[in-house]
Amino acid sequence: MPENAENSPITAAGRRSFLQKITALGSLSVLSPSALPAREDRDPLHVQAGPYLQNVLHDEATIMWITDRNCFSWVEYGDGNHLHRKFFEVHNGLIQGNNRINKIRLKGIKSGRFHKYRIVSTEIVRVSGSQFYFGETYTSPIYTFQTPELREDRFRMLVFNDHHERSQTIPEMLYRFGYHGNERDFDLVVFNGDVFDNTESEEQVIRQFLRPCVEVFAKEVPFLFVQGNHEVRGAFARHIPQYFSFVDEKYYHAFSRGPLRVVVLDGGEDKSDDNWEYKGMVAFDPYREEQREWLKKEIRSEEFRNSSFRLVLIHIPLWHSGDWHGPTHCREMFGDLLNQGEVDLMLSGHTHRYGIHPSDGDHRFPVMIGGGPISGNRTIIKLDCTKDDLRAKMIRDDGELIGEINLTPKKKR
Ligand SMILES: [Fe+2]
Repeated sequence: MPENAENSPITAAGRRSFLQKITALGSLSVLSPSALPAREDRDPLHVQAGPYLQNVLHDEATIMWITDRNCFSWVEYGDGNHLHRKFFEVHNGLIQGNNRINKIRLKGIKSGRFHKYRIVSTEIVRVSGSQFYFGETYTSPIYTFQTPELREDRFRMLVFNDHHERSQTIPEMLYRFGYHGNERDFDLVVFNGDVFDNTESEEQVIRQFLRPCVEVFAKEVPFLFVQGNHEVRGAFARHIPQYFSFVDEKYYHAFSRGPLRVVVLDGGEDKSDDNWEYKGMVAFDPYREEQREWLKKEIRSEEFRNSSFRLVLIHIPLWHSGDWHGPTHCREMFGDLLNQGEVDLMLSGHTHRYGIHPSDGDHRFPVMIGGGPISGNRTIIKLDCTKDDLRAKMIRDDGELIGEINLTPKKKR
């Protein structure tokens, strides 16, 4: 896990000195023409995706972007009229640099405020010992996002699942159902697994997922990626986590937004670890066992117990999804704990058969399962939570309301 992001005030003198250093180092690069191609021979520095927001909580936010070459990058930030601070990412005393995928955490920012930011990346053309040779600098426009109050009154979430590489589904569904007049109707967008069929390359992650999010909303509103069983397949599957940020940098985690505690679980693959398809390269049983131990602690935590509502996001539903090893093992690992924890609602996907399953003898809370990737079967779930009620409605892509759940707070233990 990265160390705390460091921030420093942007004073006029500090900025001058910083830019002088960069300029001085940049001029060194001009003195070494044999080592470096002439500037005009190189394509301009380009941001391939971003910025996009992750993990926006009451006092922190993570800003990510990807450059097309190695850079030294930072965020310029302000919560008033000016950008007065710089945030870097620091690991083991080293400010991150000479990298392309930027994940910069703004820690200790104020709750319930609008925040301005822009991303800055300066190309690192060459590193020689402790010398850095800088190239051109990219500076983005200024964007804005909002942190919630610690005890925000209302939280709204919009949930996709299983769009399976149909990237047009993101703008289509968001523009159709994500707005009320000109007002955005969501504080967070969730992708509840199977964004991809197989993940084969960075280019695919950018083109099919990050760019559509950035173009529609993600510069100003965060999204949460929940791993599905298709994300773990393909040549690029093991590189995916670096493109997202989570609480504790784990796919399974929990966070609070106002009256709602959100627990995210990773169901892993749908078949057993020894299935021929995985060639001995997966270990989801122990991973789900590890999550069980974590979940035991989570349901005892103050944040969980004191929340008005408790929501679980998991791609593979524990029930109503057949008897393959994945759902069966998820049920064994998590089912009893979620019942004990008096969860209010579970949102899932995976089956491509949308449905709302009321609480019963197996699950003492409703389970909403979203539809599949094909037009006419696609759904979106809109969740609206206050301390007094939690409403979740499932809408099909043609606008038909599939069903709605309205809950009031249970009397908790
Ligand atoms: Fe799935």
